[in-house]
Amino acid sequence: KKLVIGVDIGGINTVLGLVDRTGEVYARSSFRTAEYPFFDDYSAYVEMLVRTLRELCAAMPAGAVLSGIGIGAPNANYHTGRIERPVNLWKFRSGEPNPEEGRRFFSLCKEVGNSFPGIPVRITNDANAAALGEIAYGNAGGMRDFIMVTLGTGLGSGFVAGGRMIYGHDGMAGELGHVVVEPGGRQCGCGRRGCLETYVSATGIKRTVFELMARETVPSVLRDVPYDKFDARIITEAAQKGDSLALEVFRCTAERLGRALANAVAITSPEAVFFFGGLAQAGELLLEPTRRYLEENLLPVYRGNVKVLPSGIPAQNAAILGASALIWNE
Ligand code: BGC
Ligand code: NA
Ligand code: ZN
Repeated sequence: KKLVIGVDIGGINTVLGLVDRTGEVYARSSFRTAEYPFFDDYSAYVEMLVRTLRELCAAMPAGAVLSGIGIGAPNANYHTGRIERPVNLWKFRSGEPNPEEGRRFFSLCKEVGNSFPGIPVRITNDANAAALGEIAYGNAGGMRDFIMVTLGTGLGSGFVAGGRMIYGHDGMAGELGHVVVEPGGRQCGCGRRGCLETYVSATGIKRTVFELMARETVPSVLRDVPYDKFDARIITEAAQKGDSLALEVFRCTAERLGRALANAVAITSPEAVFFFGGLAQAGELLLEPTRRYLEENLLPVYRGNVKVLPSGIPAQNAAILGASALIWNE
């Protein structure tokens, strides 16, 4: 039996799973990325990752072979095997963007590969991994043109066109999260201002809530939430209960997202846009208005032709399945 370890490196957690081609998960593990900050002590991060990978290897059923290790990470480059100038992996240490730190390169594939001789180790952008996962385990099987959008700490995107992942000349194509939608707008982790992900992501939506709470006087259950308890799920629950401030937050988030997607559609003319990740759990609360704003802003020739859909990858293990698809895909 062939198995793969899928690794998802997020701003908050690093999650690993030993899986087979059908999506069955044999073992799982995770640790907090924030406790092993890349920029303070990268070697401590690699050590923790390798140790956790070894634990999963030890859980291999008798007779199974490890076909590879697939890693999805923000700002990862499939061509070079590195994480290049990451913009969000350090945020939780300093709390404030520090563009100086976004200049560095981490050759994770090489370091992990050294510890697992003979085992293919591949890395790609986390949203690209999700797109490959949608093909292997979700609802994009056989679909040749689609966009995957991941909504977590940041906003990630993977573009599949003509049946192929778009990597671009440098391996870094598909960074919709850093398209500037508001000149002079919110400070982004990339060092610039007004990027889409500063508005549309689990962290962006929080910033919108605080902005609206300061500006509007409407009562809201969100005003009573302690700062450290604040997350996308709480905002979603408030909106589901009809909280008008929370609903307004979703409306303006969807407006920015719908507009940005209308522009993206004009570039690759996809059949569908899939949504994946923490904030995507809000489901129709976000998708319904996004569909509306997308349609409204689309070039007429595309109208009624682009589906906006939730990811079909089994939610509980979505990110590790996506990362494993990188190996199955080869
Ligand atoms: C990064 C992307 C990543 C996305 C989601 C963005 O800030 O630039 O590479 O895919 O966050 O993690
Ligand atoms: Na991408
Ligand atoms: Zn940015």
